[in-house]
Amino acid sequence: MSDTKMFKENIVSKLETIPTPFYYYDVEVLKQTLQKLKAESDKYGFIIHYALKANANNKIIDIIKSYNIGADCVSGNEVKKAVECDFKPEHIVFAGVGKNDAEINYALENNIFCFNCESLQELEVLNELAAAKKKTAGIALRINPNVNANTHKYITTGLEENKFGINLWELETVVNALKDFKNLNLIGLHFHIGSQIMDLNSFKSLCLRVNEIQGWFVNRKITIQNINVGGGLGVDYHEPEAHLITDFASYFKLFNDFLELQPGQKVHFELGRAIIAQCGTLISKVLYIKKGVNTNFAILDAGMTELMRPALYQAYHKIENLSKYQVSGIKYQEASSESEIRNPKSEIFKYDVVGPICESSDCFGKAVILPETKRGDIVALRTAGAYGEVMSSAYNLRDRVKAFYSDEI
Ligand code: LLP
Repeated sequence: MSDTKMFKENIVSKLETIPTPFYYYDVEVLKQTLQKLKAESDKYGFIIHYALKANANNKIIDIIKSYNIGADCVSGNEVKKAVECDFKPEHIVFAGVGKNDAEINYALENNIFCFNCESLQELEVLNELAAAKKKTAGIALRINPNVNANTHKYITTGLEENKFGINLWELETVVNALKDFKNLNLIGLHFHIGSQIMDLNSFKSLCLRVNEIQGWFVNRKITIQNINVGGGLGVDYHEPEAHLITDFASYFKLFNDFLELQPGQKVHFELGRAIIAQCGTLISKVLYIKKGVNTNFAILDAGMTELMRPALYQAYHKIENLSKYQVSGIKYQEASSESEIRNPKSEIFKYDVVGPICESSDCFGKAVILPETKRGDIVALRTAGAYGEVMSSAYNLRDRVKAFYSDEI
């Protein structure tokens, strides 16, 4: 697959009629991603949970659920959303360093499969709340494996310095304490080392660490039924068309090759970004072009309120002027080299592409090369399906961003 519906069917004229900014989701890309994900994970009998935090739109969740995928939640409201979207309780897992009592009670009442527990005190509280309801909670110990994910430090979660998980040096104390927690049932170990991980070697290091930790449990004759290795598989933000679907084959093969499982053990994954990032695009219009000292500013009607990732993590999102590709008659996928884009009618300019929000960090990209861009042009910020709309805000009293789907417009 080399192009998205956006370019293939030349739907820019349709997008132009919708008030901007908005998220546009290519349902076909999502479905093809899910088919590949299932085909590759089913080869090894791996169980997939979708990390709702990446995108919690009902339509997106419904499509993902229809591929027999479970739900990974990190708040009471995400558990509620999973329940409301009809995920079976036995397919819902719940992580988070700061689950409050109401969230825990809600998850207990709904008999979710597993609480991924992150501290001794959380285990004590969960045991008390479960006892009060005369229930037994399935738990996995979320262990901080101290493995470097080699990603942005804000989305690194598996190092000792991070707040997540139970540190290896605490494991003995925690496991001893479990003997007294009669309303908890240890059913698994959970790990999650970070997000947007492009180097599969980080996952290999995780596998090797999981094997060591498993040895520790085997020595103590403690049986663990489930190993949850979290999520984190990255996507190509720079060349989305070249890698619309992440390389699930190599990813799952690696876990199959390097994880040493005990008989009957099941392996769980919690993927968010790799499922949903590439099918989503933030569509915006150029409000103004303004001359700067060394650059031109292209001021969009979308800002950090709609897509926070560049401001928060200095994240790169590919920016494209869709109107120009249409006007100049060059479809994006046909322009395989820069010289082809650089046709006589559309000269190339550099722009700092910014939003309207009163913050200097409200910048989507500096010195971005685009064809000459004008007020009213439609601009696409690609690979925005994960952690885009779901992290949008109403800062500056902005309207909440809307979503449109390729099969509905
Ligand atoms: N499991 C747990 C426990 C997590 O904390 C996360 C993500 C995932 C699974 C899913 O990770 P994924 O497969 O999507 O990488 N807002 C940031 C990403 C934060 C990720 C938080 N945890 C961003 O925009 O890059």
